[in-house]
Amino acid sequence: MKHDVKDTALSGKGVDRIEWAEQSMPVLRLVRERFAREQPLRGLRIAACLHVTTETANLAVTLRDGGAQVRVCASNPLSTQDDVAAALSTHYGISTFAIKGEDNKTYYSHILAALEGGPQVTMDDGADLVTTVLTEKKDLIPGVIGGTEETTTGVIRLRSMAQDGVLKFPVISVNDADTKHMFDNRYGTGQSTLDGIIRATNLLLAGMRVVVCGYGWCGRGVALRAKGLGADIIVTEINPVRALEAVMDGYRVMPMLEAARVGQLFITVTGNKGIIRKEHFEAMPPGAVVANSGHFNVEIDIPALGALSVGQRRVRDFVDEYTLRDGRKIFLLGEGRLINLTSAEGHPASVMDMSFANQALSVEYLVKNRASLQAQVYPVPPHIDQEVARLKLRSMNAFIDTLTDEQQKYLTSWAEGT
Ligand SMILES: NC(=O)c1ccc[n+]([C@@H]2O[C@H](COP(=O)([O-])OP(=O)(O)OC[C@H]3O[C@@H](n4cnc5c(N)ncnc54)[C@H](O)[C@@H]3O)[C@@H](O)[C@H]2O)c1
Repeated sequence: MKHDVKDTALSGKGVDRIEWAEQSMPVLRLVRERFAREQPLRGLRIAACLHVTTETANLAVTLRDGGAQVRVCASNPLSTQDDVAAALSTHYGISTFAIKGEDNKTYYSHILAALEGGPQVTMDDGADLVTTVLTEKKDLIPGVIGGTEETTTGVIRLRSMAQDGVLKFPVISVNDADTKHMFDNRYGTGQSTLDGIIRATNLLLAGMRVVVCGYGWCGRGVALRAKGLGADIIVTEINPVRALEAVMDGYRVMPMLEAARVGQLFITVTGNKGIIRKEHFEAMPPGAVVANSGHFNVEIDIPALGALSVGQRRVRDFVDEYTLRDGRKIFLLGEGRLINLTSAEGHPASVMDMSFANQALSVEYLVKNRASLQAQVYPVPPHIDQEVARLKLRSMNAFIDTLTDEQQKYLTSWAEGT
């Protein structure tokens, strides 16, 4: 099978949108131009399990131009942009297996299709490819040089695999690059999560009590942008340092049960499970809206909401109304999956520019350093992180100073400053 997409006739629209995104990805463009000249990935087989968006398409083209054979599948059943999948398959010659709304069986068959031919490099957003190789497709392990991982949740999974001795090849944690999580998770998730909620509901956030569950990189961004739209922010946390930061950033912090009683819009971004549960739904005011922007659809206990309900219906695209026994209605967005990718387009290209430049350069690094890397999770090498920041700054016409010799000496000598 060369591809499995919804409709190849959508290709033209996909190409237009991919080119539009490309305009906002100057750092990745520089990487692509160098890759095209130097061919550092010549003949390399790459399987990429990522959200199939316009930005991912530009990454796949970069890898292809570097000489790789790339196969792409979705990292979430609801995040695929069908026009992009069509364009990748038919216009860019990149085998793609992804259909928006695919059922679980198709989702996993697409992962297996991406692994066909035996990848030498895996590229994950949530560790599904690596997990499949290590459990169901062990025969592929000897051929794998290594992998890259895009998101917090995937890195958590991979670190526990490495700790338990289950991981069999090196993986680079792209998420740990400063030029990834400080920008993609914070500003990307911040803006696109609200974009997704607003597109799905057309709610006015001004004056609304918004509960942000989890004050990590994503939570900070979501809270910041919701505050900017005039919302009254409440944060829930389990980490005292993060909670303290939220208090000093000017938000109210309270336990989930208390927040459930007063919140109107709830957004989970913890990377954990069971954040909004039965007792919380029971406490919510009528008309409460719940959405998730963490990686998996386990942050909101949807079965518990179903069990409390006497009726359920879809009232708008991506909005499911649950009627509770006492007549209260609670609205679940995007089936509890990443709302920024289900009802909107995911992160803006300008921020994915940095994440995906890190991805492409990490693949090159893996290939060049394959002999010295062990079956561990590695950070993105600092020189790559710094270079991505430098190039991004330059593309934004922002320039910085360099240390004078005197300053350099002052910063590195213990004898200075007395
Ligand atoms: N929507 C997107 O496009 C997108 C982008 C990047 C990351 N993510 C995903 O978002 C999730 C969060 O990522 P992050 O980078 O912000 O992680 P993070 O580790 O920086 O933050 C998570 C926060 O949640 C808190 N938390 C954990 N359990 C909690 C609980 N029971 N109640 C309240 N808070 C709790 C943690 O203490 C932490 O502060 C991950 O699943 C990640 O993969 C999504």
